[in-house]
Amino acid sequence: MPRVALVTYDPRPRPSKDRDLPVLHTALEAAGAEADVVCWDDAGIDWASYDLAVIRSTWDYSWRAAEFTAWAQRCGKLTRLANPAAVVRWNTDKRYLGELAAAGVPTVPTRYLAPGDADAAAGLPGDHEYVVKPTSGAGARYAARYTPDRREEAAAHLARMHAEGLTAMVQPYMRSIDEGGERALQFFGGRLLHASRKRAVLAPGTAFDADKVAHPGLEVWTPTPAELAVARRALAAVPEAPELLYARVDLVDGDDGEPRVMELELVEPNLFLFLHPDSVAAVVTAILTAATTP
Ligand SMILES: Nc1ncnc2c1ncn2[C@@H]1O[C@H](COP(=O)(O)OP(=O)(O)O)[C@@H](O)[C@H]1O
Ligand SMILES: [Mg+2]
Repeated sequence: MPRVALVTYDPRPRPSKDRDLPVLHTALEAAGAEADVVCWDDAGIDWASYDLAVIRSTWDYSWRAAEFTAWAQRCGKLTRLANPAAVVRWNTDKRYLGELAAAGVPTVPTRYLAPGDADAAAGLPGDHEYVVKPTSGAGARYAARYTPDRREEAAAHLARMHAEGLTAMVQPYMRSIDEGGERALQFFGGRLLHASRKRAVLAPGTAFDADKVAHPGLEVWTPTPAELAVARRALAAVPEAPELLYARVDLVDGDDGEPRVMELELVEPNLFLFLHPDSVAAVVTAILTAATTP
């Protein structure tokens, strides 16, 4: 009986936001595995007692990135970790988007403004609407969009991030998202599992530190050939071609109508299984295969 750890965060005092977790847990046990839901930062977990640890929803890591990647490193030495620790380290820092662009993958154009960069605010665009967000983020935390006339607010946002030691990303606001939304192509066990579309998250004027709805208007999506091609190019560009148990590629269209990578999520992607109940069996099979492959 394979032993699988489904790795999550401690959501207390709130209930967990991970809707995939109970579904997966039940399905794995029904398939004959012994599945435990465990917190990544629980010092009492004997990681070596598992055949596989699947990172599922470690959603407090974006403000504990160093601690989290150190955990992944340790855990990966004690058991098979999916995705592997080196992938986790690479993917928790969104500077990977610059690497994908350098490798020729169509991405949302991105500039990085690090704490200590001289006169970082001078890097804010003056002629188009743009987004400022952190290189270590999830759920649109600390993300906001600005028109050029709101420069002072954007500079204050930037200063606040830099004071907290966060590197900022500056991107043009991808206008097509208001019409065409953002498409998430989910891969599991090396194959396309399913795709979803969500609507734009950043309403004009919303403060960067306001709570946002992370997946508005989520619906089933059939990916276009162009979307599939860009997603596969992004996956092929991950350094050292690691084995990926799961991956989610988020795409938006550029002004030219061609899809571009907004985010490549290889750490703790939402699977949206509530929207795609038929995908549960394939996920369980891929997890059990990974847990039992020598
Ligand atoms: N350049 C952009 N243009 C338009 N919308 C954006 C842009 N960057 C981020 N957003 C919006 O903010 C959301 C969160 O940004 P994202 O880069 O996906 O970070 P995360 O999901 O890790 O918080 C996206 O789903 C999208 O709706
Ligand atoms: Mg996102």
